[in-house]
Amino acid sequence: MALNLLIVDPDDDWLMSAKEYFEGMNYKATVINNGKDAQMSLYNGSFFAVILNINVKKHAGIQVLKFIKTNHPSQKVIMITEIDEEMDLEDQWTPEKLQKAGATEVVVRPFEFENLKEDLEGHQSVTDMVSTIKRRKELGPEEEVSLGDDEFTSVKIDEFYSSQPVLFDIFVKLKSNRYIKILHAGDELSKERLDKYKNEKNVEFLYFHKKDIYKYVKFNNYFTKKIIANEKVGGAKKVKMLQNVSEKFLEQTFSEGMKPLIIDQGKEIAENVYELVKNQDDLFAVFKDYSDFDPNAYTHAYLVTMFSTAIIKQFEWQSKTTIECTALACLFHDIGKMKLDPSLLEMKVEDMNEEQLEEYKRHPELGLELIDGNPLINNSVKQIILQHHEHFDGTGFPFAKRGSKILMLSNIVCLADNFVHVIQDEDKKPMEALKVLLSRRDELTWYNSSIVECLIKVFVNPEKIIKENHLPSNSRIVNKKVS
Ligand SMILES: [Fe+2]
Ligand SMILES: [Fe+2]
Repeated sequence: MALNLLIVDPDDDWLMSAKEYFEGMNYKATVINNGKDAQMSLYNGSFFAVILNINVKKHAGIQVLKFIKTNHPSQKVIMITEIDEEMDLEDQWTPEKLQKAGATEVVVRPFEFENLKEDLEGHQSVTDMVSTIKRRKELGPEEEVSLGDDEFTSVKIDEFYSSQPVLFDIFVKLKSNRYIKILHAGDELSKERLDKYKNEKNVEFLYFHKKDIYKYVKFNNYFTKKIIANEKVGGAKKVKMLQNVSEKFLEQTFSEGMKPLIIDQGKEIAENVYELVKNQDDLFAVFKDYSDFDPNAYTHAYLVTMFSTAIIKQFEWQSKTTIECTALACLFHDIGKMKLDPSLLEMKVEDMNEEQLEEYKRHPELGLELIDGNPLINNSVKQIILQHHEHFDGTGFPFAKRGSKILMLSNIVCLADNFVHVIQDEDKKPMEALKVLLSRRDELTWYNSSIVECLIKVFVNPEKIIKENHLPSNSRIVNKKVS
């Protein structure tokens, strides 16, 4: 079933071209050149999305947007605006202002229909995506293309789940900057076909355009959610699936920044993290043996997310909101590093000179700047990001806060972050990393001791909490029963 669009713009010629373009893409488009008639259409029909130019007349665009937000609060609205370089920004409808007024996305003229389509697709559910894709009866021909390596992203073929039909074009790499398109969007990708590439052609990785990462993430979030709900599947597989989708998601975040679409997908991942941590009783065993520690930044943020939420799970005050909120903050905790000089990202903190260290220490505040004012992210997430390097004993940064002045959740993320650094930088398995962390007694004062205890509990079968590790002197951990 085609998805209905309402397109509202004062320019009749543009409207006709838009109609033609979107109908060619399997949408059904209603086009209207003024605000008053647009409101009438909204009374009478329902739409997957409204594309609305702020400059329409007879009921101005902003009035129509307000009408929509009052009467159909969940309606997706993509606003079109124009910025006049000569005019003061104060007097214009900037994307920020329009988002505050309720626009789901904002596109600034000039743009191509292709950009508009990408914004629309970003908000589709998986079912919507499948319904708008043009299914092909026969497989398209294999096509060789010369495109830059930096336009592609890869996924191990073993981690690629067949979907019918595939939502985007899929390639195999021949050599640097040369690829073969093996599947066109809409082609069917069967398990047999995947096996054939893997076994007969020895293909290790499949490639797709970076601009399609959001479709990959959307599909995999949906699929991972189903797997997490399946009691017959073991914890290790679920943790790995979440890792795959989170890493692609983070790759997208680091290249595109905090767009509404990206935040929505982060929330979906956070929900999946919650479901996994809440229901999977064998996570302690999974974490003990976990060994997939690629030292990259995307794996880092994922591991911090998993260990932070696993620590929170040990506290009695844990809730769905706390876990989801922390998971989202963890995914984005180092987002401020996007704004640092890339050479700093490859350095270890111990190797930085004073100037570099000062620069590095700005990343929590830079992270906050990137998301501040974003109505889709709540204040707790922002505070966790801002405080994730504050230490309980006042030796952290950026504000050298101490004790109860630091959010408990930030201190949890701080511990998980440092724990994951031991794992990744010193190439240790989680249990070894735990011993290393506990042996550095002067660093244990960075954390509230109850948090350290909870990190230990993460690795212990809840049935048998044994005091076998060297605990902080004020530890209260005993052989108490944990439900
Ligand atoms: Fe950090
Ligand atoms: Fe970090």
